[in-house]
Amino acid sequence: MPTKIVLGAQWGDEGKAKIVDYLTLDADIVVRYQGGANAGHTVIVGDTEFVFHMIPSGIMHEDKVCVVGNGVVVDPEEMLAEIEDLEQKGFDVAGRFFVSQIAHLVMPYHKALEKAAEESQGSVKIGTTGRGIGPAYRDKVERSYGVRMMDLLDPQRLRDKLEASIRAKNELLTKVYDQEPLESGPIVDAYIGYGEQLAPYVADVSVLLNQAIDQGKTVLCEGAQGTLLDIDHGTYPYVTSSNTTAGGACTGSGIGPTRVDEVIGVTKAYTTRVGNGPFPTELLGEAGERLRSLGHEFGATTGRARRCGWFDAAILRAASRINGLTSIALTRLDVLDELESLRLGIGYRYGDEILEEFPADPQVLEKCEPIYEEVAGWQTPTTDVRHIDDLPPQARIYVERISELSRAPVSLISVGPERESTIDVD
Ligand code: GDP
Ligand code: IMO
Ligand code: MG
Repeated sequence: MPTKIVLGAQWGDEGKAKIVDYLTLDADIVVRYQGGANAGHTVIVGDTEFVFHMIPSGIMHEDKVCVVGNGVVVDPEEMLAEIEDLEQKGFDVAGRFFVSQIAHLVMPYHKALEKAAEESQGSVKIGTTGRGIGPAYRDKVERSYGVRMMDLLDPQRLRDKLEASIRAKNELLTKVYDQEPLESGPIVDAYIGYGEQLAPYVADVSVLLNQAIDQGKTVLCEGAQGTLLDIDHGTYPYVTSSNTTAGGACTGSGIGPTRVDEVIGVTKAYTTRVGNGPFPTELLGEAGERLRSLGHEFGATTGRARRCGWFDAAILRAASRINGLTSIALTRLDVLDELESLRLGIGYRYGDEILEEFPADPQVLEKCEPIYEEVAGWQTPTTDVRHIDDLPPQARIYVERISELSRAPVSLISVGPERESTIDVD
């Protein structure tokens, strides 16, 4: 039985959660492997919409196990709030939700430092989600002040670590950013309390996952953010602080690459981005506004308006290459149903040169002009379509062209936010 990685091929919000929820029908375990509460993953089941920031999107399937891997930076307050919300809505997570003992924690000082740093950057700020992600990963990599899930289970160890850390962070907050210091007592007490509540869920996730794979179970690895927000391969510095690409699924969960069978890149049938940074096929003015309103493109974590633009095949070729995509899950095709005509970005013009590959240098990217192919719209609703042959001919042509330009086959097409609004091409 296969292990599948499901990840974002663009700048996040591609509809990963909808695809993970759909694929969980045939899986046993879903694991989040990077990012943290910066993710906003929307799952709609019946009339209820859930937005998960910390808990894997497979949790709505009551017989499935959901796991948070070591690569995630855990916000324990958010995690507990999501567990409580699920339980209030009748979804029991006891015995089927686990979090890695070696995952690092997001602390209140991470959020305070991020806010202060973003404010000090003025107009060149990254436009982060404010969830403390960058500072939490910085502490993990820098090694002096990282706090892990296992520390939460030992109150004395936690107290010692936090007191030292808060002393150091207060130096930064007060002397560099001219902010009020944080009081350590209430933070320590709150985190000891979170530790008591989360203790039943803490596990050795690598052992759990590998044993499950040995038993022939299917593991779905749920990515957060998207390929172009990857700390290495993305549009640096306008990226997040983790490896959102396929390799991150292995390091972030403790599964070896030889155990992965499929890598599915989730992509919208157009492009969106939240936060700052380059976006060659962005539509400004009325055209962008129309796409935003057709797609209700507002962030699931911060509520910010998402920037919208045409599909950009150079991005998908990069995603295909970096992640070794075995297929594409194409989402939100229905959002384009009304359009008279559409454009597909097929590459870039950079001065006298034609670029087929997404350029790594941001200064080159900023000067790139997209080259477009014009495609006729289908102007027919697609949300009720369940078989690829029943798509309007122009929509099929659009999907086939995306697959060709992206160098990967399309395995799923999503035509609505609900689980059943899915065309299984395979
Ligand atoms: P994620 O972060 O990649 O999981 O995506 P988000 O949840 O942030 O944003 C995707 C949005 O699109 C959510 O509101 C989904 O309910 C919605 N969605 C997913 N697939 C489709 C689709 O095929 N059509 C439409 N109209 N909406 C979709
Ligand atoms: P999901 O998993 C879209 C963006 C932020 C900002 C940059 C850095 O829902 O697809 P961070 O808070 O991570 O330091 O912000 O990354 N960003 C996302 N954009 N979807 C996300 O997650 C995102 N998570 C972070 O807007 O530009
Ligand atoms: Mg999202």
